[in-house]
Amino acid sequence: MRLSAVLAGVAMACALPAALAAVAQTPPGSDPAIPPAPKPAPPIASPIPPIAAPGRVLLGVKDVMRHIVNPAAEAFWARSGEIDDVKGANDLTPKDDANWKISLDSAAQLVEAGNLLQMEGRARDPNGPWMKYAIQLTNAGLAGMAATQARNHDKTFDAGSAIYDACYGCHGRYIPRPKDSLYKHDIDKDLEAAGKAK
Ligand code: HEC
Repeated sequence: MRLSAVLAGVAMACALPAALAAVAQTPPGSDPAIPPAPKPAPPIASPIPPIAAPGRVLLGVKDVMRHIVNPAAEAFWARSGEIDDVKGANDLTPKDDANWKISLDSAAQLVEAGNLLQMEGRARDPNGPWMKYAIQLTNAGLAGMAATQARNHDKTFDAGSAIYDACYGCHGRYIPRPKDSLYKHDIDKDLEAAGKAK
């Protein structure tokens, strides 16, 4: 009895590494117990390919928004476009080097913030539209950098609205809202309507 138990233990100890080796050698897709890998996401029409940088994600999306994305966008918007009041139009486009520099810096921060949002561990939906919105933010930031380097009023304004579109698109899709919210925005319906209107 005692001997057979010992023998069984020895047999298990021998069988286990063999079983592990067999699993490791099974080519992917040939073991019916292992479900096939999900289909890769369709390619995104963008000059910048998506990245999945394996890195240490220290801050969550909320903190990246609070401390990186939002301050950079606010700094850029405060220096683009114009605000009209009773006295007329107030052009916000920078009038001195110091403010153009702040515009350029904040656009550059948005360029890389798009990459931060795509990092493994932060991307909420790595095979879905999340990456598209993150890339949209990067591209809008690049447009912002080009506009501020050219010191161009109209291009700065356009880049500001492109930046806004990236925020709005991603938030509409990924920030859950209560069913009875007054905010009934449905990004898919909007895009569909925009497509039909063309
Ligand atoms: C790729 C998706 C994505 C993009 C692009 C994006 N956001 Fe966000 N943002 C989120 C998500 C998701 C949350 C909710 C985070 C949470 O509550 O965990 C959020 C939350 C926020 C918040 C609230 C943070 C808080 O204190 O709760 C602010 C402010 C914000 N975003 C600003 C912006 C601005 C400004 C832009 C554009 C310049 C932008 N975001 C672009 C996904 C995105």
